[in-house]
Amino acid sequence: AEDGYDLWLRYRPLAQADAVRPHATQLVAPETTPTQSATRAELLRGLSGLLGTDLAVQPTATADGAIVVGTPASSPAIAALRLKTKDLGREGYLIRSARIDGHRATVIAANDDIGALYGAFHLLRLVQTAQSLDALDIREVPRTQLRMLNHWDNLNRHVERGYAGESIWDWHKLPDYLSPRYTDYARANASIGINATVLNNVNASAQQLTPMYIEKAAALANVLRPYGIRVFLSARFSAPVEIGGLKNADPLDPAVKQWWKDKADEIYKAIPDFGGFLVKANSEGQPGPQDYGRTHADGANMMADAVKPHGGKVIWRAFVYSHETPDDRAKQAWNEFVPLDGKFRDNVMVQVKNGAIDFQPREPFHPLFGAMPKTPLMMEFQITKEYLGFATHLAYLGPLFEETLRADTQVRGPGSTVAKVIDGSLHAGTLPKGAITGMAGVANIGSDRNWSGSHFDQANWYAYGRLAWNPYLSSRDIAQEWARMTFSSDDAVVQPIVGMMMGSREAVVDYMTPLGLHHLMGRSHHYGPGPWVEGGPRADWTSVYYHRASKDGIGFDRTTHGSGAVSQYAPPVAAQFDDVKKTPEEFLLWFHHVPWDYTTKSGRPLWGELVHRYSQGVDYVRGMRRTWDGLKGRVDDERHAQVATFLAIQEKEAQWWRDASIAYFQTFAQRPLPEGEAPPA
Ligand code: GCU
Repeated sequence: AEDGYDLWLRYRPLAQADAVRPHATQLVAPETTPTQSATRAELLRGLSGLLGTDLAVQPTATADGAIVVGTPASSPAIAALRLKTKDLGREGYLIRSARIDGHRATVIAANDDIGALYGAFHLLRLVQTAQSLDALDIREVPRTQLRMLNHWDNLNRHVERGYAGESIWDWHKLPDYLSPRYTDYARANASIGINATVLNNVNASAQQLTPMYIEKAAALANVLRPYGIRVFLSARFSAPVEIGGLKNADPLDPAVKQWWKDKADEIYKAIPDFGGFLVKANSEGQPGPQDYGRTHADGANMMADAVKPHGGKVIWRAFVYSHETPDDRAKQAWNEFVPLDGKFRDNVMVQVKNGAIDFQPREPFHPLFGAMPKTPLMMEFQITKEYLGFATHLAYLGPLFEETLRADTQVRGPGSTVAKVIDGSLHAGTLPKGAITGMAGVANIGSDRNWSGSHFDQANWYAYGRLAWNPYLSSRDIAQEWARMTFSSDDAVVQPIVGMMMGSREAVVDYMTPLGLHHLMGRSHHYGPGPWVEGGPRADWTSVYYHRASKDGIGFDRTTHGSGAVSQYAPPVAAQFDDVKKTPEEFLLWFHHVPWDYTTKSGRPLWGELVHRYSQGVDYVRGMRRTWDGLKGRVDDERHAQVATFLAIQEKEAQWWRDASIAYFQTFAQRPLPEGEAPPA
């Protein structure tokens, strides 16, 4: 059944198979390690499914059309080719058309088994997307080192902000029962180069670090290891008190330091290649070093020292904001972290959300990017759609990720993009020696058959992985790839789907939070409109805090005359955002409080433009429904029907967002709807 379980690794018979078969007659691939076995099995599975033939597995190439896979150490045929594999590192690979013993062959060569596995997935992708296998000359090395998923999964299998069922980790049955799903999870991740996973929620339970759960995590690590995926755990800062019997968790207390050292030793005994700890501290009520008057650096360094002898890392989150918010929340992470630049151990990374508020449909890039030249900063994207309509709304996040990565911090002149901060190239001269680079994505994976809660949400997992591997890829190219692999290699199907996807996130921005508005979702669940939310337990947990609508206008003044948040950016960027005329319109109300009659770029007054954007968002969803209806019969009925139903939900709810938001803002604007705009139902 087309239930989506196979993700983008469907391997169904390919229409263009005839052109590929001559390139896939034999397979020469070693099988003496678990990673080699996985590589061989994937190629056999993929190519036999796609081409409808069984490849002969051979010790050497004896005819034209062999696929030869391996490393100089694992494969005499690869060694004999004397390819330059050393500079590929552990994870890079080459794919080349070559001659072996006089026979035409396709070679996948790497320096290490895992590189060969990545190369095998790349070759399969070429076939799945119906690209020519003639004269191949591909060289790939990942641009970042740690390409990680963050599961916000609790031990009771509830997933925080998860919309795809329960946690895929069945803690109750671990460590003895290993669901085959874990292996398929590993395959899917390896196919896009994801090499690390944090198993549990950043709002962590200390129980995760008890012997029983360490044993369970070790069992998962054993399944993931052949696919190059290392396990990390979220650590609760107060664990020494909660499960260690200590009186406090003060990072400067020798007993606390010793506790973490012992805990690290215990974990590494069970998981020798354990990646390290992810920590959310002093944020949203979580414990942290500030509880003892210490800094984030004190806390991070103490834990970093504990894992250092084992080669482990500490990833410290910069998503912090204090309980009492006297100041603009958007400024708080920068205020707390910039003074700590250069004060972290060399095995600490600071993980920064893409924007300064919280995974909104659109945010300007976080001002921390570029502002900590001595600290490796990891990007944190949210793959799960907490603020973008959960699993039912179709929103392809590739353009959101791309927009952030391409944003120009200007800290070292024009071209100082966020991508260059993330891949370490911008601050190569100032980062600690041996600093590693990386990206994290908050996973959208659950126990649903289709993994992500909807067929199209699989694209967000896919796009995240591809951009973590290479932050310079285009989200449109990624959408093309994904649509071909997931739905069809027929252009008449692929192009309309890609068209729908590419504008879908912008549509969400339009019908939820146009023109730089943000955080107007219903309180705590974040689903559906709630611009009227006020009087919460905290000022910044209300919507009125963010939109500041009044009779005279709307928007959050973050200029030098307002909260001053613009000054956290490099001077040219700050100057641009400080000036209402120079601020890109998509960030207008993020940075400025603007009168209702302000003339926008379209010539419409702000009020009219706002209404126009809301309507435009709804129209886009209607357009997606029409496009999708046109694909009936070209996409299998099962997936077609589910997507169609979800799009109907999305249209209804986009309309709800529009109507509710307009009706509410109209109470301040006190102006009629522009001509041609339907009044809210
Ligand atoms: C958001 C989200 C929380 C999450 C937090 C975080 O605020 O709503 O559920 O815990 O981000 O990233 O830590």
